[in-house]
Amino acid sequence: MTATIDWSGHISALEGRGFFVLENFLEDGYCNRLIQDFDRRRELGEFQDAGVGASAEVQKKIRQSELIWLDPEDPPDAFGQLLSFIEELQSRLNQQYYMGLKDWEAFYSVYRPGSYYRRHIDNFRGKNRRIITFILYLNQNWEKQKGGQLRIYWDPGKASPSSNPGASGIPESRKEIIVSSENDVLKWQECYLDIEPVAGRLVVFYAPELEHEVLPCFSDRYCITGWLRR
Ligand code: OGA
Ligand code: MN
Repeated sequence: MTATIDWSGHISALEGRGFFVLENFLEDGYCNRLIQDFDRRRELGEFQDAGVGASAEVQKKIRQSELIWLDPEDPPDAFGQLLSFIEELQSRLNQQYYMGLKDWEAFYSVYRPGSYYRRHIDNFRGKNRRIITFILYLNQNWEKQKGGQLRIYWDPGKASPSSNPGASGIPESRKEIIVSSENDVLKWQECYLDIEPVAGRLVVFYAPELEHEVLPCFSDRYCITGWLRR
C-alpha cells in the first residue's frame, strides 16, 4: 500500500490547504478486524467517555464519544499498516520541514447514535504537543443519512487553503475537487467540506490550525484517531 502513495502530492496539499485525504487506505478485511477488536474490548468494558481540552474533562455538550487509548509499546496487529504510514509521514515531515515530530498517540473512537463533537481545533493555541492529526474511518456501508460527517472549516480570511483569488473573488482552490472516487466526490461548500466517514478513508491534517467538527451521527461510527507529536 505505502509504495503507491503519492507522498509529494499529499505533503504539498498538507502544506497548501492544511489537509489531505487518502481513499481505500485499508482494505475491508482489515477494517472488519479492527471493528471486531473494538467490539471485543467494548465487551470488556474498556471504553471510556472522551474528554475535552487540556484537562480532558468530559463535557457532553461539546463532545460525546467513547475511546480506548492504544498502547504505543503494544499496538494491535491490525494497526500495522497505519503505523508504517504514520512513521513514514513523520520522517518525511521532519526531513522536509524540520517539524521535530517525536512520537504518536492514538485511540479507538466510537460515536454512538446521537453523538457529535462540536467545532474545535485539536491543538488550540499550542496547548499540547499534537501537530498532525490522522483519522482512519472503518464504517462499511456508510450512507449520508447516517450523519457523522467530518466537517472541515476553512476561514476565507486566512491564506490557506485559498491560494490565488480568481477574477470572481472565489479562490481557485475552493473549486478544487479534493477526492473523486467510487465512494464519493469531495468538494468545498462555501467555507466547509464534509467528509463521509467511509471504511478505509484516511484523513490527515495540520492540528494547530484546522477547525473541524463531527456532525451528529445516527448509527455507530468507528474510527482510529491519533496525532504525531512534537
Ligand atoms: C477528534 C476529532 C474527528 C472524527 O477526536 O478530535 O475531531 O472524525 N475526531 O472522529
Ligand atoms: Mn478533533
